[in-house]
Amino acid sequence: MLVTLSEILAPAQKHKYAVIAPDFLSIGMLKHYLRAAERYGAPIIASYPPLPIDRFRRFDRWIGKIRTLCQDSTVPVCLHLDHGKEVQTCLRAVAAGFTSVMIDASAFDLDLNRKMTRQTAQAARQAGVSVEAEIGHVGANKNSMEGKAEESNLTDPDQAAFFARETGVDALAVSIGTLHGTYKGEPRIDFERLAAINEAVDVPLVLHGGSGTGEDNLRRCVAGGICKINVFTELIKAYLAATKAGFNPLVKGNAGFHQYNAVDKILEFYFTISGSMGVASA
Ligand code: 13P
Repeated sequence: MLVTLSEILAPAQKHKYAVIAPDFLSIGMLKHYLRAAERYGAPIIASYPPLPIDRFRRFDRWIGKIRTLCQDSTVPVCLHLDHGKEVQTCLRAVAAGFTSVMIDASAFDLDLNRKMTRQTAQAARQAGVSVEAEIGHVGANKNSMEGKAEESNLTDPDQAAFFARETGVDALAVSIGTLHGTYKGEPRIDFERLAAINEAVDVPLVLHGGSGTGEDNLRRCVAGGICKINVFTELIKAYLAATKAGFNPLVKGNAGFHQYNAVDKILEFYFTISGSMGVASA
């Protein structure tokens, strides 16, 4: 069934688990995610990456097909735009039928971030669509010093509380030490900062840069108040390798078979450590 981000995260926040949010690039990839979510009885946030959706021909028709797949699923599915960089992009996604959008103005100064987020939240609320925003800035591994998040990019707990109240967002992405992409080792998570943010902020907290964060770190993040974990790098790497194997005449099985197995294994790990496995099978 298709639900909003607020609807999917409310029980997660109450019962202290996190919902996994994998990015998909194609209908085939989404189908594999939904199949795994159903197999493990886990709710899922199907996230579409920040591609220039305004320029896609037949975008609404494509999203219509995706909505139908999500609606027909036996587990709760939120259809979410990940990292919308402009208000207009988010509103385009709202009009197309997404049930949640992320406005990511975290690279701008705080005032502009607040302004863009408030504008998106007001418009999305009228359409019954949820909004996630980011405070502090989760960068990418390639831009960082040896895979370490820069101190100045980390989320300030008081600022986060003010930002959430002022903008009326439904979920807040925070920067506590993770980065997007591939780490050299495991990241150092600032759990004290997470505790202070969780104490100060009422809305569900989101962790970006899930890939490679490590089992222990992720379990502690969930215990510390993280309700949504974004994952992409691990999935796309495994997916591309599986696609290649599917076209190799020396390897048994077609591409779809290998792709599903690769995705299933990774999602099984994330559903387990997030505590979301089985919560939707009742
Ligand atoms: P990774 O690619 O590091 O898993 O991050 C995914 C993400 O945060 C998408 O928003």
